[in-house]
Amino acid sequence: MTTPPPLEDRLKGMLEPAQLMTWAMSHYIRVCAEAVFKKGEIFAPILQIHRLRDEAFGRFWVEFSNALLRSPSISTIYGPKPCTGLHEKLRAKAVAEGISSKYHILPCGAAASQLLPALRESGTGVTEAYDSDSRNGIFDTIICVRVLCSVPEMERTVNELYGMLKPGGKLLVTEHVVNPWRTAKGSVLARVVQSVYQLFGWSFFIGDCALDRDTEGALLRAARVDGGWEVVDLEKNFAWSVMPYVSGTLVKKI
Ligand SMILES: C[S@@+](CC[C@H](N)C(=O)[O-])C[C@H]1O[C@@H](n2cnc3c(N)ncnc32)[C@H](O)[C@@H]1O
Repeated sequence: MTTPPPLEDRLKGMLEPAQLMTWAMSHYIRVCAEAVFKKGEIFAPILQIHRLRDEAFGRFWVEFSNALLRSPSISTIYGPKPCTGLHEKLRAKAVAEGISSKYHILPCGAAASQLLPALRESGTGVTEAYDSDSRNGIFDTIICVRVLCSVPEMERTVNELYGMLKPGGKLLVTEHVVNPWRTAKGSVLARVVQSVYQLFGWSFFIGDCALDRDTEGALLRAARVDGGWEVVDLEKNFAWSVMPYVSGTLVKKI
């Protein structure tokens, strides 16, 4: 059990959803306005509420994830990025966002076998507390935005990311996943189309990205060693589509 914070913090915390909802609502209004005034889909806000809601949520979540990194409560960010050709642009983006002093871009993958040596080399001392045999992770928060679709050995990477998370730490994800075609909201057709894209070279041309990964399953399985996550707060969007998303927060048990 976690100890609740002081009353003042708890009251402030109660306003957080209102801020987030206002932000998400502004996206929803914008998406509706675009459908009506730009695309001429005048009935879409009434007849296609579900599609517009999904589109708005996707935009909101990406913007929300970006804003998260600017939070003053974040002291250090480690960004493993194996594609070194992107490092210069990333660095420029970090400067533009005002987070360059705390953003360490690492020329490696997210799996522990690559990340830990790169972290040691970074000289930040972050790996000192790490012991792969215990539950002592090193990160308060790990953010995965459209990356688990592309990592080699996704299940292993997810397990290792779980291992590097501190007890009580959060894993924030926004990932496109295999279509949940067996469920009521999923689509058999979209699942078939995913396979067709895979067959015609999607992974080859799109940097090893795979459309058909059960990322949610891997995330849930990763915490089995501890009897599951403390909190699983995942939302599924675009379940009808070729690129359905799972997004939300998982919290490791203390
Ligand atoms: C589909 S792209 C998405 C890029 C970006 N996250 C976005 O949402 O626009 C997949 C990204 O995963 C990165 N990637 C591939 N393998 C990786 C690994 N082993 N560890 C960390 N990142 C990896 C690639 O460099 C690429 O930037």
